[in-house]
Amino acid sequence: MDALGKLYTSTAIVTVNVDGKMNGITVAWVTRVSWQPPMVAVSIGKTRYTRELLDKSDSFAVCILGKDAKEIAEYFGTVSGRTTDKFKKYSYTMSEGNLPIPEGTIAYLECEKAGRFEAGDHIVYVGTVRRQKLLKDEQPLLFGEHRLI
Ligand SMILES: Cc1cc2nc3c(=O)[nH]c(=O)nc-3n(C[C@H](O)[C@H](O)[C@H](O)COP(=O)(O)O)c2cc1C
Repeated sequence: MDALGKLYTSTAIVTVNVDGKMNGITVAWVTRVSWQPPMVAVSIGKTRYTRELLDKSDSFAVCILGKDAKEIAEYFGTVSGRTTDKFKKYSYTMSEGNLPIPEGTIAYLECEKAGRFEAGDHIVYVGTVRRQKLLKDEQPLLFGEHRLI
């Protein structure tokens, strides 16, 4: 194990809805970045389809997965929305801000895009949390040691 493997995070699915075209991507690189106002950052690979949609969108949702949501995390983290509608396989609800919230979500943050920064082969999107909802008070699905744990 290397040192970077010791950075543990909660696993989330970041969702977008661009004029009815919905997609979601599993992310481990997600963190809080401001207390007031509450803000978060997610790091999205430049080649991801979600990166294209995020560039066209003013909002996104960070859907934090529960400890039993490994299967959906792997699906949204291996299949691309460029060729597949990932929401056909799993159920979801729509948030107040019209963003899809997939099953397995224990809490979500509806964010307004506040910034976009290049970081090597990824783009870091910073969002201001406009609404947040706790659905299930349980432990999140963790990512550490370079894998879901
Ligand atoms: C557990 C896990 C964590 C991941 N974390 C990230 C991440 O933080 N950022 C990222 O760009 N891709 C991450 N990925 C890879 C994307 O989820 C994957 O490439 C996805 O299929 C891209 O979907 P899209 O093309 O529909 O955007 C992760 C995958 C898994 C399985």
